[in-house]
Amino acid sequence: MLVVAAIFGLVRLADAWGTLGHETVAWIAQSYVSPATKEAVQVILDSSQSDYMANVSTWADSYRYTDGGGWSAPLHYIDANDNPPESCSVDFNRDCGDEGCSVSAIVNYTSILLDDESKASVKRDAMRFIIHFIGDLHQPLHDEAIDVGGNTINVTYDGDDTNLHHIWDTELVEQLADGQDAEEFAKNLTAAIRAGAYGWDSSTWLTGASLNDTKASAMTWAHEANAYVCSDVLAAGVDAVEEGDLSGSYYKAHFDVVRVQLARAGFRLGAWLNLIYTGQAGD
Ligand SMILES: *[C@@H]1O[C@H](CO)[C@@H](O)[C@H](O)[C@H]1NC(C)=O
Ligand SMILES: *[C@@H]1O[C@H](CO)[C@@H](O)[C@H](O)[C@H]1NC(C)=O
Ligand SMILES: *[C@@H]1O[C@H](CO)[C@@H](O)[C@H](O)[C@H]1NC(C)=O
Ligand SMILES: *[C@@H]1O[C@H](CO)[C@@H](O)[C@H](O)[C@H]1NC(C)=O
Ligand SMILES: *[C@@H]1O[C@H](CO)[C@@H](O)[C@H](O)[C@H]1NC(C)=O
Ligand SMILES: [Zn+2]
Repeated sequence: MLVVAAIFGLVRLADAWGTLGHETVAWIAQSYVSPATKEAVQVILDSSQSDYMANVSTWADSYRYTDGGGWSAPLHYIDANDNPPESCSVDFNRDCGDEGCSVSAIVNYTSILLDDESKASVKRDAMRFIIHFIGDLHQPLHDEAIDVGGNTINVTYDGDDTNLHHIWDTELVEQLADGQDAEEFAKNLTAAIRAGAYGWDSSTWLTGASLNDTKASAMTWAHEANAYVCSDVLAAGVDAVEEGDLSGSYYKAHFDVVRVQLARAGFRLGAWLNLIYTGQAGD
């Protein structure tokens, strides 16, 4: 029981991109939605706040720990039963459990948003889930089963004892943001997307994304994120990350993955909402 409690405690601390990551994704998306999409999203969320998306971007992480919300916990990830660093893969039939996963959740909540008959309260939750789960899907360790998505891989970061999942959710993002808050950091990343900085070509980021096949769209993004588990997150194996302090050379070797995944998540979330409300991905 103690072991279960300890693992539960770790998972609880480490369940998603941290607050900075989710809010940054939401702010980037806010800069890509069209005026019509913005209005539709604000009506569903019953919010005219300037941070209407960022404000609800971590709701799903609070909800899953409420008495009535435990059912939603599996929707934050897809447990790829692959074998990093030798081989990475995601297979919907193998990896999406009976209780659902991030990919089935994106499918379900997209169809609820597209259905004029959905009740307002159901649409509001669907919107809050979509804003959160498209973010989660881009964190490589949310597309990986090994060691509970890295939650039980103990690591040291900037002198603190933590775990591998947690640093990909939080510490790496915070080090990259370098003191910027989510709104500023998102402005910086949005400018980088528009400028094609860092070799980014956002014209390819929606390849394979279509409301005609929402499952295939989300799987495309899951495959891309999962591949980083082999190429970056665990490139040198589990034992290697358990040694040393990961805020140094590990950060330098892999921060570009954190940066591009935050940028893609925000860009795709904005485009996905545009597709739902205007039929066009662009702003
Ligand atoms: C969302 O906005 C409301 C109203 O301004 C505020 O009370 C709440 O703390 C905000 N929540 C988050 C997570 O930003
Ligand atoms: C879709 O979401 C609704 C609302 O959360 C839930 O009641 C339903 O079981 C979900 N359906 C599937 C197939 O996941
Ligand atoms: C990881 O650290 C926890 C305490 O934070 C400890 O209980 C656990 O045994 C450690 N796991 C490994 C694999 O060393
Ligand atoms: C983003 O911020 C970093 C460091 O804070 C800076 O070097 C970079 O030029 C900024 N990029 C943009 C596009 O504003
Ligand atoms: C989606 O389906 C419609 C109607 O079948 C078709 O016209 C459209 O080209 C499809 N779009 C994509 C991106 O596949
Ligand atoms: Zn989450």
